[in-house]
Amino acid sequence: TEASLHERYADYFAIGAAVDSTSYKDAHVPLLTKHFNSIVCENEMKWESLQPTEGVFDYTTADQIVAFAEANNMAVRGHCLVWHSQTPSWVFVDQSDAPVTKEILIDRMRNHITNVVTHFRGRVSAWDVVNEAITGNKEDGEDAGEDLSLVQSWGYRNSDWYKIGGEDYILEAFRAARAADPDAKLFYNDYWNYLDEKREAIISMIEKLKSENLIDGVGLQCHLNIEPAQEKLTNQTVHQTVENLENEIKAYAALGLEVHITELDVSMYTRDYGSSDESKWHRTEAELTDALKDKHATRYKEFFDMFRRNSELIGNVTFWGVADDNTWLSEFDSGRPDYPLLFDKQLKPKKAFYSVTDF
Ligand code: G3I
Repeated sequence: TEASLHERYADYFAIGAAVDSTSYKDAHVPLLTKHFNSIVCENEMKWESLQPTEGVFDYTTADQIVAFAEANNMAVRGHCLVWHSQTPSWVFVDQSDAPVTKEILIDRMRNHITNVVTHFRGRVSAWDVVNEAITGNKEDGEDAGEDLSLVQSWGYRNSDWYKIGGEDYILEAFRAARAADPDAKLFYNDYWNYLDEKREAIISMIEKLKSENLIDGVGLQCHLNIEPAQEKLTNQTVHQTVENLENEIKAYAALGLEVHITELDVSMYTRDYGSSDESKWHRTEAELTDALKDKHATRYKEFFDMFRRNSELIGNVTFWGVADDNTWLSEFDSGRPDYPLLFDKQLKPKKAFYSVTDF
């Protein structure tokens, strides 16, 4: 039988998996307990899950997941306290549906963070306090997808949080989390960190948090593709390279921050979503050639070789899911099935699994 992933990595960093409201108690349990020593809730600790209605907190599922983690000696990463997505609309408006004042918004946010972080105090070791607050497309508040021609300049995402709270909401979020559990490590979490301009914007935000000792780490999501993406505008730089990510990790570590790889998966597709080239759309498992599986495994191996080289900078590497039968990527793009994890739909280890344990 195959090695245990987390035991293989015992000298390097913790190995985590995102679980949802069923995977922590269904057929995935043997994989979870054998291969992972850290978990995170994919959705169950987000605002809409924990406080769907003002003042009504529901910890039922999150508590069960944390109890599962404790029973199996797993660390728990908390994800996430403040985000523009999966936040109920009541948070931003008053009874007549008009936007609330900054004071009220910050107050609601503090209340939420204080309640949640206090509830899990001593049981959640690291919190993603603020998620995805920096974007390159300020105008509509959305990220620019892969079309970098839409990017204006990297800065605060024009979310409801920012529109009402200004940049202060970020500082206030970290202050509230720090106060509620001084022993939990506090993280800023984001994607596309390999873009220099975005990283620079993140770093200037982090400098402000650091001056008050409010931040301990940075989470790099790492939703990767089987091939590095090509920059559409210049047609030259490839972004998702091992080298770019390694530079990222070093840049954040140089600020004195711990790095967690927080949402790792490697899509079997290139980034050209919606491409009319059908050969790039591998719809069924049977259509995955050995060559593709090898390529996928090699890509994983190259990233893990790099993670091990930098293991003194990295505390945790978490996969965004357990096995290919349950991955957000298969729902995200019109239901196109994807195969981004180390275990297949039958929960068996894939070539990618062996490529990261064979060293
Ligand atoms: O809860 C409802 C359910 O009641 C309903 O029947 C069902 C039908 O569509 O939808 C359910 O909500 C879905 C939710 O996941 C829970 O399953 C939402 O539609 C769906 O949009 C939501 O997707 C999540 C996504 O965040 C939302 O942005 C994914 O599961 C989750 O993997 C994903 O995770 C994010 C990280 O938090 C941040 N970084 C990016 C990452 C991937 O997008």
